[in-house]
Amino acid sequence: MGRAFVYVILGGGVAAGYAALEFVNRGLSNAQLCIISQEPVAPYERPALSKGFLLPEAPARLPSFHTCVGANQERLTPKWYKQHGNSFITYSYFLLILSSFSNIYFISFHSGIELILGTAVKSADVKRKTLLTATGETISYKILIVATGARALKLEEFGVTGSDAENVCYLRDIADANRLVDAIQSSPGGNAVVIGGGYIGMECAASLVINKINVTMVFPETHCMARLLTPKIATYYEEYYKSKGVDFIKGTVLQSLDFDSNGKVTAVNLRDGRKISVDMVVVGIGIRPNTGLFEGQLTLEKGGIKVNGKLQSSNSSVYAIGDVAAFPVKVFGEIRRLEHVDAARKSARHAVAAIMDGDKTGEFDYLPFFYSRVFTLSWQFYGDNVGEVVYFGDMPSGETFGAYWVSKGHLVGAFLEGGTKEEYEAIAKTTRLRPEIEDLGELERHGLGFAVTV
Ligand code: FDA
Ligand code: NAD
Repeated sequence: MGRAFVYVILGGGVAAGYAALEFVNRGLSNAQLCIISQEPVAPYERPALSKGFLLPEAPARLPSFHTCVGANQERLTPKWYKQHGNSFITYSYFLLILSSFSNIYFISFHSGIELILGTAVKSADVKRKTLLTATGETISYKILIVATGARALKLEEFGVTGSDAENVCYLRDIADANRLVDAIQSSPGGNAVVIGGGYIGMECAASLVINKINVTMVFPETHCMARLLTPKIATYYEEYYKSKGVDFIKGTVLQSLDFDSNGKVTAVNLRDGRKISVDMVVVGIGIRPNTGLFEGQLTLEKGGIKVNGKLQSSNSSVYAIGDVAAFPVKVFGEIRRLEHVDAARKSARHAVAAIMDGDKTGEFDYLPFFYSRVFTLSWQFYGDNVGEVVYFGDMPSGETFGAYWVSKGHLVGAFLEGGTKEEYEAIAKTTRLRPEIEDLGELERHGLGFAVTV
């Protein structure tokens, strides 16, 4: 059994939703598009899962955060997919059961964008341009967009067993988020250990505190958010978290878990010898891009599928977008893979523009943008965190402060906590311009004013 489409998006996350909207805005017709996702729901804004979804009062629930509300665009509900990319006829490749003919092309009446949900793709053949689903269906395409995102790393990959216990939570998709909510509700006033000091760790720790759960964070580095923040900026956030009751245990990792007779985790044992009693554990120890279907078929780099400035892979019929794509970041002059929602949205739009408009579409020229919002804090970062750091603002008292990164005589990155919309726009614009910086002292004196007046 099989079906054929002109365009197939493999994966139904953030990038898939934004790609679908771009197809429709560019006049997709004739039910040419299919999205296949192993998740049971239409594409949604994944960032909501560690923020609004975990709130004790009026938590965010679908359909409120389907893509593309995160970029203040249309909300694409399942009905939207039925009603768009509309048309009259599509080619479908069927095994025609009622007749003795098989494998013939016939014309079926079908409309909208085909959403195949709750269905994993088990294998891909880029030479034959086919995907095989777990239900045994073969989907053929002319153009494939790979938007498979990433999976959360498991504790087992670091030699710790038992992470399938009901009170050990990861956070990547809706199923994980529901499980985390259940664990929170089963542990009122209880103790949680958060393993990992990255994005998931910091955002989940804040949500647990808001749910009145006592939190201890454990991570191997000397400060939180080590991939992005300097020790000085990280100290500000750690102090803020401490003021909310969060304990930090740094420079060590989880060694093992203790269980009760029902298989629930009762304590975590750290490599430094400490034991902490727990009601629940949240794990955020990084991700791996879902490239497995294409290993040996497409060129991989930096852990992702290597694409050019049109998001096209080493096979010209296959594009890759979002977390799984390693693309040329022009402002850095190198290939990078970015694990953030803005890159997913914009790479999706650019790939669709390149597919539908061909050579009229230029090279993807992306300025990396990361952000987070926890408690009443809110920061944005643009560019690259390399070179010398110049701080500005009044960090101990909080409110508004930030930093610039200067490399090889140019401003290449900017971070700002507590800015206004205009100030964030200013640091984004300035970072993109990469202004020459002759005197770091002068940059420090001007502080945020430098970006605002550039
Ligand atoms: P995404 O993971 O969104 O989607 C991939 C899809 O492919 C999933 O639906 C998956 O099931 C499907 N899939 C994979 N393999 C498949 C197969 N074989 N067959 C079928 N389907 C398959 N970023 C940011 O900038 N700010 C933020 O605040 C946050 N917050 C945040 C919170 C949480 C909890 C997470 C997990 C992540 C964030 N992020 C973020 C990161 C951001 O969400 C992430 O960069 C994007 O979701 C990436 O979009 P993609 O579409 O590439 O992957
Ligand atoms: P991460 O890469 O941000 O952080 C991983 C953390 O794991 C590290 O900081 C480290 O402290 C910790 N770690 C590594 N090995 C460990 C070990 N053996 N024991 C204990 N800790 C260990 O990854 P994440 O926090 O898991 O986030 C997953 C993905 O979700 C990332 O792609 C991230 O970009 C995305 N995300 C982004 C945001 C945002 O942009 N605001 C929010 C949530 C999630």
